[in-house]
Amino acid sequence: MSENSDMRVVLVGGGGREHALARALCRSARRVELHAAPGNPGIDKLAAAAVAIDMNDHAALADYCRAQAIDLVVVGPEQPLAAGMADVLRAAGIAVFGPSSAAAQLEASKKFSKEFMRRHGVPTAAYRVFDSSQTAAAREYLATLSGKVVLKADGLAAGKGVVICEDAAAAVVEIDDFFTGRFGDAGATVVVEEFLDGQEASVFAICDGENYITLAAAQDHKRAFDDDKGPNTGGMGAYAPAPVVTDEVMQRVRERVIEPVLRGMRAEGMPFVGCLFCGLMIDDAGDVSVVEFNVRLGDPEAQVVLDLVEGDVTRLLYSAARGALDTTAVASVAKGFRCCVVLASGGYPGSYSKGHVIEGLEHLDDSQVYHAGTKIDAEGALVTNGGRVLAICGQAATVEEAVAGAYEALHKVHFENMMYRRDIARRALG
Ligand code: AMP
Ligand code: GLY
Repeated sequence: MSENSDMRVVLVGGGGREHALARALCRSARRVELHAAPGNPGIDKLAAAAVAIDMNDHAALADYCRAQAIDLVVVGPEQPLAAGMADVLRAAGIAVFGPSSAAAQLEASKKFSKEFMRRHGVPTAAYRVFDSSQTAAAREYLATLSGKVVLKADGLAAGKGVVICEDAAAAVVEIDDFFTGRFGDAGATVVVEEFLDGQEASVFAICDGENYITLAAAQDHKRAFDDDKGPNTGGMGAYAPAPVVTDEVMQRVRERVIEPVLRGMRAEGMPFVGCLFCGLMIDDAGDVSVVEFNVRLGDPEAQVVLDLVEGDVTRLLYSAARGALDTTAVASVAKGFRCCVVLASGGYPGSYSKGHVIEGLEHLDDSQVYHAGTKIDAEGALVTNGGRVLAICGQAATVEEAVAGAYEALHKVHFENMMYRRDIARRALG
């Protein structure tokens, strides 16, 4: 394929992160023909085709890619990666941005991830792993701990399989809940770990199995309500670059986290191709500990980090997928600051209603809006269709202006039971 020919790209997923990916892919110097699998009303405006295939049927997707001469598949969410989508596509000779199911264990199994970190000397909280046949041993271990304790379901639980307990006594009660099926099979094995103090930040490394580049560090807001109150969600807003990740901290993340992970994954026969999402805790001294790994971009972090990139994201992801990362594809990973605020349905992350008409988007610049849980109803109206409905963004030379821009924009949008946090990026504002 020549430098100037069209690129035919399948984008897997249909949330806000994938809308951000779609927009970033379409900014390429090449003309990108986007095939949305399955997309959403925001992505659909950018896409040339919708891929009407069950995303669990990886062989059918590989057939589609061959029939349509697809150059690149970009996988947004973790589930298809854990289920082996990238393995099937790669075996069919298709370039795919996303790890194999073996490498996706870094996210899909907390036990795997912790043991991998221990094997390769990556800093992380002290921990033990127990399954439901080891309740007595788990209790004994908990009795030796002081202070807060963190319990994590081993398997994928959509960001909700983590419980922070005030003390060991509370953890003894909670852990029984895990073992008796509160998180289904995902909670049959539990990681018990020490509580880490500090500020959280996320660093995204675009990897080709051996080489990588980092994007701007971001801070997410996982709790549902202001002042970090309420239940954990998928993420209620984000901004980047996060000042807590100074150049010195970023250097530590490279040397102590990303590079040992890439070396370790290669040495263990599962080179990591895709986006390594390092969820970090940074203490007052600037020391870093890994809270979790994910094997894809964050949502809503993608909605801030991708738009800060000056360069050709399509070229970058395509080169990573082919195992030959082109670091010249990107000139800068942070052109100013970007902030996004998630507009959610009241009740999220619990139960909520759907089908409410969304008004006011016509007053916003397209670049400020990402669709997540939206759909076009039978009457042709744009309505709510999920917990996280939209992400509204602001971008500017300073973090203050970026935040102000996001809130100014979202005040023009309305739907019934709309809920959002009013304090996104407050940490960066001091
Ligand atoms: P995880 O799914 O592992 O990222 O956990 C979800 C959230 O729980 C994290 O974003 C943190 O806010 C919190 N958390 C997880 N592990 C720890 C820990 N060891 N110490 C403090 N907070 C934690
Ligand atoms: N926003 C956190 C995540 O994508 O896992």
